[in-house]
Amino acid sequence: MGAYTPEYRLTNSRLEELVDTSDEWIVKRTGIHERRIAQNETTWQMALSAAEKALSDAKISGEELDLIVVSTVTPDSYTPTVACVLQDKLGAKHAMAYDMNAACSGFVYATDIADSYIKAGKAKNVIVVSVERLSSIVDYTDRSTCVIFGDGAGAVVYTASEEKSGILSTYMRAEGSLGHCLFAGALPVEQDPITGDRTIDSKHRFLKMAGSDVFRFTANAVPDSIDNALKRADLNASDIDWYVLHQANLRILKMVAERYGLQKEKVYVNIDRFGNTSSASIPICLAEMKEKGLLKSGQKILISGFGGGLTYGAAVIEL
Ligand code: COA
Repeated sequence: MGAYTPEYRLTNSRLEELVDTSDEWIVKRTGIHERRIAQNETTWQMALSAAEKALSDAKISGEELDLIVVSTVTPDSYTPTVACVLQDKLGAKHAMAYDMNAACSGFVYATDIADSYIKAGKAKNVIVVSVERLSSIVDYTDRSTCVIFGDGAGAVVYTASEEKSGILSTYMRAEGSLGHCLFAGALPVEQDPITGDRTIDSKHRFLKMAGSDVFRFTANAVPDSIDNALKRADLNASDIDWYVLHQANLRILKMVAERYGLQKEKVYVNIDRFGNTSSASIPICLAEMKEKGLLKSGQKILISGFGGGLTYGAAVIEL
C-alpha cells in the first residue's frame, strides 16, 4: 500500500475568504477541517509517487506487474492514460495498462477488476492506483462543492496466492438514472448536438452536486453494498475488524457505525484532514493505517465506495 497527498493544505478559514461559508458549517455538515490541494503536481505525478511506495511496500518491482489499473475522473489527458504513463515510469514492461472511471467507487470497482484477473489466472501481480486532482474540476465560487473535495493518490498491490486470505467477496452496482446528481462535463460543449445552438460554457467541466440527493442515495446504497459483501463472504458485521469507507462525509461514516452497532474506532476516519478525494480516499486510508501499524495479518477489512455515476460497491478483504 502507498499514498501521496500534496503538501498544500486548504483550510476552512481560507475557504471563508473565498465563498460565503464558515468553519462551523463545514465541520458540522461534513467533518472536514482541511484538504490537500495539488499546486505543482500533475495527476500522473501523484499516481507515480503512490505506486512507487506501494511497490516498495509489496517488495516487488515494476517489471513484475502484469496489470496496472488507474481509477480517476481527472486524468491529465484522455490519451495517453495515466496507467500508460505509469507503465513507462515504473518500467513495467510486461504489464497491460488502462484507466477506468467509476468516480468515487473507482477503487472498489478496480479491486474487483484485480480480483477477476487474478482469479481467472490472467495476472499474478496487479497494481490499482486511485488518483484524483479534483481541484482542477472544482468551482471555487460554488460553496456547495468547494468545501468538500481535495486531491491525492493511493495505491494497492494485489498478488496471486494459494492462501485462503485475500479478496473474500465483492459486490458492485450502479444507479445511472441518478447520474445528474453528481455531474462534471467532459469535452467542452461548443455546439449543442440537438439544437445546434453554439454555447460555450466555461463551467462545463466543473463538478455540480445535488448534495442532499446524493446523501439520500447513500443512506440505502452503502448499507446495501455492505450487507451483500458480508453475505457473499458468509460473515457478520461483527466479524469485520475495520470498515474503510469512502470518505465522503463524516455523517455517512457515523450513520454506518450506528446502523451496524459498531464501536466508532472500527470505522476509519481521515476526512477531517484530507476532505473527499473521490476514488483515492480508501487507498489513502489503507496506506495511512498500514503506516500507523493498525493493519495485522488475519484481520478482515470491509471497503465500501459510493458516489458519481451514481455507483456503489463493497468488498471484504482478509489481510
Ligand atoms: N457553507 C454554508 N452554507 C452552505 C454551504 C456552505 N459551504 N453549502 C451549502 N450551504 C447552504 C445551502 O445553500 C442551504 O441553504 P438554504 O437552506 O438557505 O437553501 C443550506 O446550507 C443547506 O444545504 P443542503 O445542501 O441541504 O445541506 P446538507 O445538510 O445536505 O449538507 C452536504 C450539504 C453537501 C454536506 C451534504 O448534502 C452531503 O454531504 N451530501 C453527500 C455528498 C457526497 O457524499 N458527495 C460525494 C459523493 S462522492
